[in-house]
Amino acid sequence: MTQAAVWQQCEECGTTLGETDPAPNCPSCGGLLELIHAPRQDARDLVERFRQRRNAVTGCDVSGVWRYRELVLPSATADEIVSHPEGNTPLLSRAAVARFAGVDELLVKHEGHNPTGSFKDRGMTVATTQAKRTGARAVACASTGNTSASLAAYAAQAELPALVFIPSGKVALGKIAQTIAYGARTLMVRGNFDDCLALAREASASLGIQLLNSVNPFRLEGQKTIVFELLEQLDWEPPDWIALPAGNLGNTSAFGKALREARAIGLISRVPRLAAIQASGAAPFATGFAQGFREQLRVEPNTIATAIRIGAPASWNRAVRAIRETNGVVADVSDDEILDAKAVIDAAGIGCEPASAASVAGVAKLRRSGVIEANDRVVAVLTGHVLKDPGAVVAYHQETEPAPARANRPIEIEPRVADVERVLRGVI
Ligand code: F0G
Repeated sequence: MTQAAVWQQCEECGTTLGETDPAPNCPSCGGLLELIHAPRQDARDLVERFRQRRNAVTGCDVSGVWRYRELVLPSATADEIVSHPEGNTPLLSRAAVARFAGVDELLVKHEGHNPTGSFKDRGMTVATTQAKRTGARAVACASTGNTSASLAAYAAQAELPALVFIPSGKVALGKIAQTIAYGARTLMVRGNFDDCLALAREASASLGIQLLNSVNPFRLEGQKTIVFELLEQLDWEPPDWIALPAGNLGNTSAFGKALREARAIGLISRVPRLAAIQASGAAPFATGFAQGFREQLRVEPNTIATAIRIGAPASWNRAVRAIRETNGVVADVSDDEILDAKAVIDAAGIGCEPASAASVAGVAKLRRSGVIEANDRVVAVLTGHVLKDPGAVVAYHQETEPAPARANRPIEIEPRVADVERVLRGVI
């Protein structure tokens, strides 16, 4: 029998399942499933193929996810793929942000440039494609807002009914607006994200709906392309560090898997270190790291960065593996540190939502403590767009008393030139 190119495997007990088996978990032990790709050694061919596809103007090669399809979901055919398209996000360099972080070379990979404004689209195009291939009747997710916005958009495109569970009162305005506008059935649960995920898991199992949270292995395959794309943008010369915000730990796991596979194939000869950054009020993984990952922890989460307001991360074990294999670190940053970093990123003309700024805040903190050196090459991933959370911007710049150091207070005036002159004195 020839070995299939791709199959699913339980991370805990090793049970294998076919590529199109829609089981949400391992049927033997309940563990999380991961996609295994047969080993390959054609790095040179792949690099050339990826490069050529960058010239495409139509079809799935235009997608910054499906351009790497050999390493994502090779068997998906063009007519099966549900693509917006997505990906193709910029790698930006801004002196003000590098200065704030205290490193000479800091690049930011802005995933907020995806079609629904967050990195979730990269996973959702693959998970929705797979849901369609396996005959899903409907799709569901629990979310702090970005996954639900993305799921709503991709389900709409695939013409699948979508059901989302979000924590009532704890989702940023832009994300709720998107989720409703794209047409998902939206359930506001009186509880936090962890309650939502438990409920979504139970309800989707009993209702026969496919769950598209990052416990779904196909999500992670899509999210790996953040790493592939940034490596390609650096001409496959890896940075020293990749920093990213961490909540439910799906993305940390996806980054670890991408680096492991890129190294095994020979796309890179050296693995960057991962720096996973949590908000201090929702930092079980950072605490776990400090304790040598002795045990899986959970906390009652609380942070202004609502996207990562998560106390019981679902992808704990695979994220531990990602940190260990990359000689990575996990750190936490306070809400004030997050808001400071966000103000700098925003004022540099880039903009991001609060959770995203945790990556840059984390780089600054790790630099101060000497873990990151000034001449290390660092890529910080910004995970979501500034317009996701307009409430956070208004609160920081217009409402917080006393005004934070970087507050940019708008000034109300009468329609008189004298008022304009008075305000502008000292500015220009
Ligand atoms: N940044 C943003 C903007 C997010 O929305 C999330 C997660 C993360 C970082 C953390 O990624 O969970 O893979 O560790 N948002 C999820 C959601 C939970 O429902 O949108 P993670």
